Amino acid sequence: MSLPRLSAPTGRLGVLMPGMGAVATTTIAGIMLARRGLGQPVGSLTQLGTLPLQRRGATTEVALREAVPLAGLDQLVFGGWDLFPENALESAAHAEVLSEKHLGLVAEELRAVKPMPAVFYPEYVKRLHGTHVKTAPSKADMVAQVRDDIRRFLRDNGCDRAVAVWCGSTEVYREASAVHQSIERFEDGLAHDSPEISNSQIYAWALLQERVPMANGSPGLTLDFPAMYELARLRGVPIAGKDFKTGQTLMKTIIAPGLKARMLGLRGWYSTNILGHRDGEVLDDPDSFKSKEVSKLGVLESILGKAAQPGLYGNVSHKVRIDYYPPRGDQKEGWDNIDLFGWLNYPMQMKINFLCRDSILAAPIVLDLALLLDLASRAGMSGMQDWLGFYFKAPMSAPGTTAEHDLFVQQVRLHDALRRIAREEV
Ligand SMILES: NC(=O)c1ccc[n+]([C@@H]2O[C@H](COP(=O)([O-])OP(=O)(O)OC[C@H]3O[C@@H](n4cnc5c(N)ncnc54)[C@H](O)[C@@H]3O)[C@@H](O)[C@H]2O)c1
Repeated sequence: MSLPRLSAPTGRLGVLMPGMGAVATTTIAGIMLARRGLGQPVGSLTQLGTLPLQRRGATTEVALREAVPLAGLDQLVFGGWDLFPENALESAAHAEVLSEKHLGLVAEELRAVKPMPAVFYPEYVKRLHGTHVKTAPSKADMVAQVRDDIRRFLRDNGCDRAVAVWCGSTEVYREASAVHQSIERFEDGLAHDSPEISNSQIYAWALLQERVPMANGSPGLTLDFPAMYELARLRGVPIAGKDFKTGQTLMKTIIAPGLKARMLGLRGWYSTNILGHRDGEVLDDPDSFKSKEVSKLGVLESILGKAAQPGLYGNVSHKVRIDYYPPRGDQKEGWDNIDLFGWLNYPMQMKINFLCRDSILAAPIVLDLALLLDLASRAGMSGMQDWLGFYFKAPMSAPGTTAEHDLFVQQVRLHDALRRIAREEV
């Protein structure tokens, strides 16, 4: 199916973030700095990347921003929800990701970004106790309140459309149940306060009903179940997820394809990391950690294809650990021990020590997802956008298919989709 020819978007685009902690405020402040020419949006494909396109019979690298009509940074307006009332400046200062010098340059603009009261059933995030929360007689009523928030935000900020990226805490691990199987069952569950319906699902339901495209940056069950797929198609809204691919998993999906390309064998991969700040504290709860663990563990098996190479990858021991270690704040440190083997099965080891900054790696992903989901929506694309799997640890894929984890294959798929939007033959 060929897509419509798009022109450059006019008007303002609302970027809504449920959860205005470290990642959200680092994204907002970074965009404010970048659009004033006070900082470089490093790590963002939409701002710095290129797309290989055919021009006059030869392949030419065209700036992605020129190849497809993305919203400009000046057109973005920020909003969101949080269970703490701090504005974006206070929350960014609390997160201690960006320097006082950087925050000072956009202090007034950040101060003006204030979270709306949150939907918060605490059993989904046990370690947090916020006060800036909505009350409602039922979960259906919560959805109605979030829908009102979205309309009011658009009206008050003169936006003609919006996109949303979930940047809220990791919720406890849950699998899809009967209530998640259809629109009717989900609506019934909302009306009857089903305990199976989480905070993030309530936001997602409201956003999709309001035709706001949404990405899920955390590993919880938010968008990836039949009722949500059905609603996204019905309302003509693109969705993507889940769990931003940032530090250790990003490295895993870069290195594992390389080992496989060279037909080197693998016996084990042990990953551990220490992390402070609020995200680390939330992940210290075993039920929230379980969501993260499941999301992080899926990648190796899919990349290595153990069935095709049982001698090389049939018996890989893969472990992932995260420890909450407050002194480290956002400056996560990851260690990987990789036990590999080569010619005649001789063993080797590789150690990776990645001293990264979590939100610095996540912020460009939030920006790209916001702009690319808006692009997809304007191009009339709806439902699950698996070409955005490049950005996620646990990419969504159509039921019955396996998700692609290899970063380089994901990049090809992303480029192919963008070429289609640019109306080039793929
Ligand atoms: N930083 C990374 O590299 C990275 C990578 C992958 C995934 N993530 C995920 O992104 C999310 C955000 O990470 P962070 O470092 O900004 O965490 P954070 O703790 O700094 O921010 C999360 C915010 O969400 C808020 N929140 C929780 N439940 C909410 C609700 N129901 N409604 C509104 N707000 C709610 C919290 O109050 C908090 O301010 C987490 O789920 C994390 O696992 C982050």
